[in-house]
Amino acid sequence: MIHKTSGLLLLPLTLIFLDFILISSLANPTPITSLNVLTYGAKPDGSKDSTKAFLAAWEAACASPNPTTIIVPKGRFLVGNLVFQGNKCTNAPISFRIAGSIIAPEDFRVIASSLQWIMFDGVTNVSIYGGVLDAQGSSLWKCKNSGGKKCPTGAKTLLFTDSNNISIYGLTSINSQKFHIVIDQSNNVKIDGVKVSADADSPNTDGIHIENSHSVNITNSRIGTGDDCISIGPGSTHVSIQGIQCGPGHGISIGSLGRSEDEQGVENVIVSNVDFMSTDNGVRIKTWGKDSKSFVRNIVFQHIKMKMVKNPIIINQHYCLDKPCPKKESGVEISNVRYEDIQGTSNTEVAVMLDCSKDKPCTDIVMGNVNLVLQMVNGSAQASCNNANGLANDVVVPFTPCLKRDLLLT
Ligand SMILES: *[C@@H]1O[C@H](CO)[C@@H](O)[C@H](O)[C@H]1NC(C)=O
Ligand SMILES: *[C@@H]1O[C@H](CO)[C@@H](O)[C@H](O)[C@H]1NC(C)=O
Ligand SMILES: *[C@@H]1O[C@H](CO)[C@@H](O)[C@H](O)[C@H]1NC(C)=O
Ligand SMILES: *[C@@H]1O[C@H](CO)[C@@H](O)[C@H](O)[C@H]1NC(C)=O
Repeated sequence: MIHKTSGLLLLPLTLIFLDFILISSLANPTPITSLNVLTYGAKPDGSKDSTKAFLAAWEAACASPNPTTIIVPKGRFLVGNLVFQGNKCTNAPISFRIAGSIIAPEDFRVIASSLQWIMFDGVTNVSIYGGVLDAQGSSLWKCKNSGGKKCPTGAKTLLFTDSNNISIYGLTSINSQKFHIVIDQSNNVKIDGVKVSADADSPNTDGIHIENSHSVNITNSRIGTGDDCISIGPGSTHVSIQGIQCGPGHGISIGSLGRSEDEQGVENVIVSNVDFMSTDNGVRIKTWGKDSKSFVRNIVFQHIKMKMVKNPIIINQHYCLDKPCPKKESGVEISNVRYEDIQGTSNTEVAVMLDCSKDKPCTDIVMGNVNLVLQMVNGSAQASCNNANGLANDVVVPFTPCLKRDLLLT
């Protein structure tokens, strides 16, 4: 009797079960798998080396045909140099959900033995949510700042190279040895709500650096560091930067460019809604005094507030670190750069400096609604121009003599 009943029930149950699989697979074709790094042997105690555990979790996620979440729970995870290789992955989305901190060994030489601490190489569809990366760079900064000749260059904290469709949300990077976050040869990158911090005197600790990459959006982030908050290197196109607080640091820079003759230019960059606080520069374009076929074009800087900034608006085409500087003009051609709605205070007399190349003068520099006043010095802010041409629409203070007044407005 019991046998008979179960036999009778088996068929409809199987049908219902199959139905369920069918319906659920239509609604959600790829179930999300999640992995916890603890399962792979990681220890949240800040002292046991978890490098191998992180790599093992990555290998598993990478081989999965389904979207996978790698969970890094609360705690402190000590890791050395990590390379997450993408070339053998299925490219199904992989997300890191990080609640804890990932920390580098105290001895700076360990991660500085490589040029980066955490590298994603050739990955697609990778997202990072949350987490703190602490590279513990301060002893290396000390070494460098005390003029130590034997200090290593240092490791970038997080590098994406040769990658596509990358998102970084709510990540914090502190105390990087060198650049914090680097996007190189990667396309379709979204960075939102990140925090970067390092001491104002930490050498070469750029917040976010972009190079040879297309379609990179950086939004709602707070960056205070010892070098550029954001730097945009050769070959960067379609870059959008919005809602950034920058300071301390060296501002937001396009460049340096034109160091080599055949490097790629930068185009289609928009920098919008940025607050600069006590930075060395605000919005800067810098190129080396060297022969080059490179260019900077179609750039917009808009809705920007400056507070106690040394050089709020600056184009420097005579950038040089090796004294004496070569008496050479930059070959980088700068055109169509718009400055719109830029307000606030300058810490030095020259608030606007357009120092362009004699060989390739800047063209189509357009300013409108720019108003910069001196912070502490008694007097009005000045502008300085060399080889720059364009238009001043609307109110432009300080008066920038190289720009023609828009006749319609006078
Ligand atoms: C990224 O993931 C999406 C969604 O799963 C998929 O359609 C796309 O093909 C993946 N990209 C690559 C390059 O595999
Ligand atoms: C980008 O990645 C996300 C998640 O990683 C994925 O859902 C989306 O489909 C991907 N987009 C493309 C164009 O591959
Ligand atoms: C970047 O922002 C632009 C404009 O808002 C948008 O069209 C583009 O799809 C975004 N790209 C990425 C990678 O988020
Ligand atoms: C600023 O300069 C003006 C004119 O030279 C002078 O009258 C004024 O006292 C100065 N103010 C301060 C705070 O130095």
